[in-house]
Amino acid sequence: MSDGRAALPRRLLIRDLAQVATPAGVDAPLRGAALGQLDVVEDAYVLCEDGRIAAVGRMRELDRLDGEVDELDGRGLAAVPGLVDCHTHACFAGDRVDEFALRARGASYEELHAAGGGILSTVRATREAGEEALVEAVERHRAWMLGHGTTTFESKSGYGLDRETELASLRAIHRAGGIPTWLGAHAVPPEFDDAESYVAFAVAEVLPAARELAEAADVFLERGAFDASTARRYLSACKEAGLALRLHGDQFTEAGAIPLAIELGARSVDHLEATGVEGVRALAGSTVAGVLLPASALFLNRPHAPARELLDAGAIVALATDFNPGSAFCESLPLVASLAATQLRMGLAEILGAITVNAAHVLGRADRLGRLAPGFEADVVLLDTADWRYLAYHLGGSVVHRVVVKGALVA
Ligand code: NIG
Ligand code: FE
Repeated sequence: MSDGRAALPRRLLIRDLAQVATPAGVDAPLRGAALGQLDVVEDAYVLCEDGRIAAVGRMRELDRLDGEVDELDGRGLAAVPGLVDCHTHACFAGDRVDEFALRARGASYEELHAAGGGILSTVRATREAGEEALVEAVERHRAWMLGHGTTTFESKSGYGLDRETELASLRAIHRAGGIPTWLGAHAVPPEFDDAESYVAFAVAEVLPAARELAEAADVFLERGAFDASTARRYLSACKEAGLALRLHGDQFTEAGAIPLAIELGARSVDHLEATGVEGVRALAGSTVAGVLLPASALFLNRPHAPARELLDAGAIVALATDFNPGSAFCESLPLVASLAATQLRMGLAEILGAITVNAAHVLGRADRLGRLAPGFEADVVLLDTADWRYLAYHLGGSVVHRVVVKGALVA
């Protein structure tokens, strides 16, 4: 400071909380029994200082605080870490409500995709939108997520599939506060004859700029999208360019996503609704996380992923919304938590770990996000209940009362 005095710390004391619930310890990722371990403190406080958690403890052990401190009354409320959505497709224009109406009458998602609808219809709308409209769209979606307690979100591109729109999407996600993943291999756009020639274009023409904007690359490895050998070509080039790797795999069929993810040292394979016994075993024996997306399985009326098997075998499991206009028009991690409890047979403590620590791990941020512990970013969700378990229990309820991001009340 020019006058020689240090700036006063910006402090927020969340006091008289009925409960603070946070994954125990500081290790990440959490797997096996460790995923079910929580610290729950009753009659508690959370002290935030300069955007970080300074202390968490019992009210009766709170030292007198000298100097300026803002206070937030936590009476009757439970606090959990800010939720982390590690898999969304929040950058799109238009909607797919007509397709949803057709699916409601029996059309299948894969049929619509094969007929040039589905993902490609969102590609048409997104190409026409322009970057400013995309920023507005991601900001709108971010506000929806925040209202459900999501304080950190990843978003994929993948609805541009041309150089200009893919790069505009990655910039829009960043400008709206998201963590960008380049989903350059989401579908083969109509101007290309096949997946091979499209991937050759994407790697040669888009990757050199996308690597500067994105943290990770993703591919839709599936019948009708990209097969394992084309996905390997795309992901290998992305890895070479310094991007972390993610895969959409085993959504409808097992087409080699898990072995490829392990071979290339990917961060995660996401979906896994079609994963069989061998895939469960392989994933559990690896450092690749499985990201489960039960809102997508529900929205498409598909079987759920073998979550219990993955957890019991010791796999790293995270949960996310998969928010997108086609297969999961759902931005609520609390709803995903309810589905994980009722459909995936996950324990409530496992669920909290899967939408905080393990999701942060998938985004390479578990050292600073996902816990209410000293030194972590002060992202705090105050639930409208004295018992944190309502996060999953209140099916579709408005369970989020207040949201604090980096020590500031934002919602
Ligand atoms: O994760 N499966 C591929 N991609 C998305 C859906 C995208 C869309 O339908 O627009 C998913 O489900
Ligand atoms: Fe997805």
